[in-house]
Amino acid sequence: MSESERKKSIQSIKGTKDILPDEVWMWQKLEEIAGNLFERYGYRQIRTPVFEATELFEKGTGETSDIVTKEMYSFRDKGGRDITLRPEYTPSVVRSIIEHRLHLRTPPLRFYYFGPMFRYDKPQKGRYRQFHQIDVEVFNEKDAAIDAELVEMAQQLLIRLGVKDIHILVNSVGCTACRPSYHQHLRKSADQARENLCKDCRRKIDTNPLRLFDCKEESCRKISEGFPLITDHLCQECRDHFLAFCAYLDELSISYLVESRLVRGLDYYTKTTFEFTSGALGAQDAILGGGRYDDMMKQFGGPDICGTGFAVGIERLLSAASLEENKREWLYIATLGAEARIMGMKLARELRAEGWECLIEYRERSLNKQLGRAHKLGAGRVVLIGDEEVRSGRVQLKNMSSGQQTDVSVLGLAEALNVSD
Ligand code: HAM
Repeated sequence: MSESERKKSIQSIKGTKDILPDEVWMWQKLEEIAGNLFERYGYRQIRTPVFEATELFEKGTGETSDIVTKEMYSFRDKGGRDITLRPEYTPSVVRSIIEHRLHLRTPPLRFYYFGPMFRYDKPQKGRYRQFHQIDVEVFNEKDAAIDAELVEMAQQLLIRLGVKDIHILVNSVGCTACRPSYHQHLRKSADQARENLCKDCRRKIDTNPLRLFDCKEESCRKISEGFPLITDHLCQECRDHFLAFCAYLDELSISYLVESRLVRGLDYYTKTTFEFTSGALGAQDAILGGGRYDDMMKQFGGPDICGTGFAVGIERLLSAASLEENKREWLYIATLGAEARIMGMKLARELRAEGWECLIEYRERSLNKQLGRAHKLGAGRVVLIGDEEVRSGRVQLKNMSSGQQTDVSVLGLAEALNVSD
């Protein structure tokens, strides 16, 4: 196909990516490693729909967040419902808990999830419109120890995946008791610099001043360095929680940096927030983010149960990870002639039932050509079946690394395969 023909054919949507067969093993391995780790900490997998009522994210993720104001894939369905492809997972889990009254079950309420998320952001390396997250959420655990345990579990995950150069940033964003008076201080300070701030920041002064710290404009960032910090305005309860959180991290020998400007891009956080970055990534270096959200369940009309958790971007994780593919030994069955093909098909059925991965290619090729294919594809051993083998009920078993070929009876083949020579 020529380049111009290729351009005319239907292409994938901007900001989305195919995960091709030679990459899938990494996704599977990552899910296996993460799932095993989380289960050891008492987490269980949950799965919820990819689309939800738009209102869920407006209320949960927050009406002033970039996600809700600019990035949601929202549409009206044929039944006139306002639907959104989930941009994040946290509100969906909270909805599911309330809907199924999971909070009435025997604790712990600890869940994890893998799946696609959708955000209409500007695509670039490490930033996609359909991307994937590993998400972890805990409910009804107020103690700062669980926030610290989450950070520990997240760190363990990155270590197990071979991610290097990890930096952990932590902060507290206060609660509904201390944030209003902090907002006043912040507004006052930002108001004085109003003329030099970008249009977006000027709007944030009135809507959600905490977001001022999120601005990517260099001049706004410089100005915000002079703004008052939330950590100097925490109420006693939030201060105690934050100090306890940091003390637990110290006890667990986890290195972190207190970053008082870390407000995170979502509106629901209360008290603890944290983010992991990796020097192994480029500009989009935030690999993992999370924190506590004590009011969401109540705001959704559910019980007054607190929540805390984190999410990791799988694409970013995989580009920073160092994973090794498990080598599987598999068999190539080379046949010559119609009868040999049938014998090969039957033999393959038996071997597959025993757990062997077998490949027969249904194309007329000489035995030599088939051996060449087996070598190219990386088969460990080849079973050769020609006219002579059909007559005798025996096959040739060739070891591709030693080149050794043995004559084996069909009945003894499974046993011979289990002896690694
Ligand atoms: P978030 O910081 O918005 O948090 O996203 C978490 C991670 O998802 C990021 O650190 C990043 O690795 C990845 N990510 C986000 N946007 C993109 C994108 N456009 N392309 C590729 N990767 C992306 C949340 O989503 C919260 N729900 C985390 C949480 C769970 N907080 C409490 N519980």
